[in-house]
Amino acid sequence: MIMPSYPSSRPRRLRRTGALRALVRETRLAAEQLVLPLFVRGGAKVRRPVEAMPGVAQLSVDEMLRDAEAAAKAGVGGVLLFGIPDTKDAVGSSAWDDEGPVQQAVRALKRDLPQLVVITDVCMCEYTDHGHCGILRDGDVDNDATLELLAKEALSHARAGADLVAPSDMMDGRVGTIRTALDHAGLSSVGILSYAAKYASVFYGPFREAAESAPREGDRRGYQMDPANADEALREVRLDIDEGADAVMVKPAGPYLDIITRMKEGTGYPVAAYQVSGEYAMIRAAAERGWLDGERAMMESLLGIRRAGADFIVTYFATEAALRLGRAPAL
Ligand code: PBG
Repeated sequence: MIMPSYPSSRPRRLRRTGALRALVRETRLAAEQLVLPLFVRGGAKVRRPVEAMPGVAQLSVDEMLRDAEAAAKAGVGGVLLFGIPDTKDAVGSSAWDDEGPVQQAVRALKRDLPQLVVITDVCMCEYTDHGHCGILRDGDVDNDATLELLAKEALSHARAGADLVAPSDMMDGRVGTIRTALDHAGLSSVGILSYAAKYASVFYGPFREAAESAPREGDRRGYQMDPANADEALREVRLDIDEGADAVMVKPAGPYLDIITRMKEGTGYPVAAYQVSGEYAMIRAAAERGWLDGERAMMESLLGIRRAGADFIVTYFATEAALRLGRAPAL
């Protein structure tokens, strides 16, 4: 790069006015690149606020439709569904109940809001009584025995009409198992968004209250990734793409921007990033105390994730950010 030095070069010239800044802006954030996570449970007219995530609630299908409609109106691109079942057991059998909250929600969304992309989280932790992401054998999650259950869950979501299924369990081989199951069932057009690099993160704390999915004993370090590792994320993503993932996700987002960049550059695949519950809660909490301008922190955090290379972002701020984008240029 040829670049004259000061005083010939004065980068401030292009920062003088909003119009100049807009002209040379490198990254843009659009509402259709945002995906809103929703927590669905049984019943009607249920709206149970999640304490550590102000603005987020567990919703019955009718209430979920209201939030999804508001998101769609604001221009949000899609929703990511999590289910809170009525009953839990050791193998999480309600995960593949065709009448479960997620399956009902998918059908309702496809009927009423066909413009939204519907993604479902595929994992066992919300459905097992022990709260781990698979079935346990001798206190450890049994990888290969879990694969079959994940495939059943994914199939049930796909039959209901999901556009993408998103396995978040971090079992080895799950993408391939799910791809094969979908294809054999004649569902070859349903895509897989794999949580390829999902770290064992403290930032999932508030989510576990929202999804009622905290492990009763132990933690998830035996299957989720070590926060210290980046090369390993590239190996994980390569495996998932080989097995048939259509798009890959990094989670959390903010503390793992380097992973997003390397994944985008290394794969050329669509990369999603999940700004998780703890990232959301931190911004909300600081804003509530008046320590941060919450709206600007929201927009800057999302822009940073896009700048790192994410094509789309799963965020609890989706609707709010989309409304903000509809008003005036961000930043
Ligand atoms: C399920 C799952 C988790 C999240 C998404 N899918 C929790 C976990 O792995 O413990 C976290 C999302 C968030 O924190 O917002 N396995």
